[in-house]
Amino acid sequence: MAFYVTTPIYYVNDAPHLGHAYSTIGADILARHHRQRGEDVFFLTGTDEHGEPVAQAAEREGVSPKELADRNAKRFEDLMPRINASNDFFIRTSDEQHKRRVQEVLQRVYDNGHVYKGVYEGWYCPRCADFKTEQELGPGNTCLIHHIPLQREREDNWFFRLSAFQEPLERLYLDHTDFVTPRTRYNEALSFITGGLNDVSLSRSQISWGVEVPWDANQVFYVWFDALLNYYTALSFARPGEDLTERFWPASFHVLGKDILKFHAVFWPAILMAAEIEVPRRLFIHGWLLLDGEKMSKSLGNVLDPFEVMDRFGTDALRYYCFREVAFGQDGSISTAGFESRYETELANEYGNLASRTLAMIARYRDGTVPAVDVDPALAPDFEGLAEEVRSLLDQAEISAALERIWQRVRRLNRYVEESAPWQLAKDEERAQELDIALRSLAEGLRVVTVLLHPYVPDTAAKLLAALGLDDGGNGVAMSLEGARFGAHPGGGRVEKLGQLFPKIA
Ligand code: MSP
Repeated sequence: MAFYVTTPIYYVNDAPHLGHAYSTIGADILARHHRQRGEDVFFLTGTDEHGEPVAQAAEREGVSPKELADRNAKRFEDLMPRINASNDFFIRTSDEQHKRRVQEVLQRVYDNGHVYKGVYEGWYCPRCADFKTEQELGPGNTCLIHHIPLQREREDNWFFRLSAFQEPLERLYLDHTDFVTPRTRYNEALSFITGGLNDVSLSRSQISWGVEVPWDANQVFYVWFDALLNYYTALSFARPGEDLTERFWPASFHVLGKDILKFHAVFWPAILMAAEIEVPRRLFIHGWLLLDGEKMSKSLGNVLDPFEVMDRFGTDALRYYCFREVAFGQDGSISTAGFESRYETELANEYGNLASRTLAMIARYRDGTVPAVDVDPALAPDFEGLAEEVRSLLDQAEISAALERIWQRVRRLNRYVEESAPWQLAKDEERAQELDIALRSLAEGLRVVTVLLHPYVPDTAAKLLAALGLDDGGNGVAMSLEGARFGAHPGGGRVEKLGQLFPKIA
């Protein structure tokens, strides 16, 4: 089965911040989880390089848009391995192959009769690269997101007949009630559609940094259409000499923030319908990470630098924290204090200590061999159905809810250590059998939670599974979801001691 997941492609007018890392890690968790299922996965991320925001930023810095794009795209590309994103490709919209494909698709939209010439007049935010409707105007004609004055623009443009797709879009929403999740976003998008759709400008005439309109050399495509199409074009050139479109289109999941809902939930399916291309299966809309109550964004100057956080706490800690602190799908505040507290109490104490104690006790009491006995029948019911539960939550991209379910078992195992008190059992030869069962159950429980935590904390999981003697040489068997059942892995194997997984931070 194919699973194709994407992130938004990021503007190169500025450096990456934690908000960008957030969308990417969210999509990465889904990609890794689906690989654990043994599916054929393709995970795409990249940069959105055209349009006014980039052209203006380049002008401010006195360089060409291409120079700025090259410089900043590299920073996003470098972010990916740092956050341990397992993306299969990194698309840049300035790539000639992307541009050609955009032209092909939009020419088809034109040939199908969905494009006409008109005059546009309206309020435009250059940072959003978006024309605002009356409902979207802030006080004094300002942008509600960026708090900057909007520009009154008037120009001859090519228009996309979005209004003609009102009915097909309504039908799409009614036939596929999970097209957009969470439900509140579905309702928001649907009510935008049923409220009546105006045609939208498909091209811009006053800038040249973009993809040329093939039937009118004086215009470039409006950056949003160029950008949205990345999800489709990438498949045609991600692997030289191979076209992956058949294999992976339509996309299984687009992951994106609520700020760009309208483009993805309304424009995107409409333009695909107009080009006679299948629409994606699902969109998952996440909320904003807030700092001081505001959306973190470079233009507001309130950003947490993911590189700094990772230098201090490590990549896995960042990946874990973002999805633990804020429920994926909702807005939520993050802070350095919150980060430090979860690192200490949850990662270091609950998970890290569970791992080091378990391994140390097996080393000490059983010379490093997991006892070859059955798991404790008193503990087994607490793991019953866990992998299935995680699976069905992640089917809905409920990343935080799935993490919570797994973490309940981490806590359960800690309680089990206290209840069974192996150090007491070890004092009494007659209770050797009980000690065997306790150690085997702890090793097995630790294995199960670690396999399930792998998408969240991949480095830690790999290290821990190797210490549990489950290094599979990279073939993925030890990581498979199939094996994440309590009792599925037999005892008898050798384990190794492990240092602190999450060391104290000075
Ligand atoms: N280039 C467009 C997207 C085109 S997709 C075809 C764009 N880029 S962006 O650089 O502004 O990044 C947008 C995405 O970054 C948001 O949709 C969201 O996924 C993520 N985030 C940016 N700031 C964020 C927060 N403060 N919190 C959470 N996510 C945020 O829009």
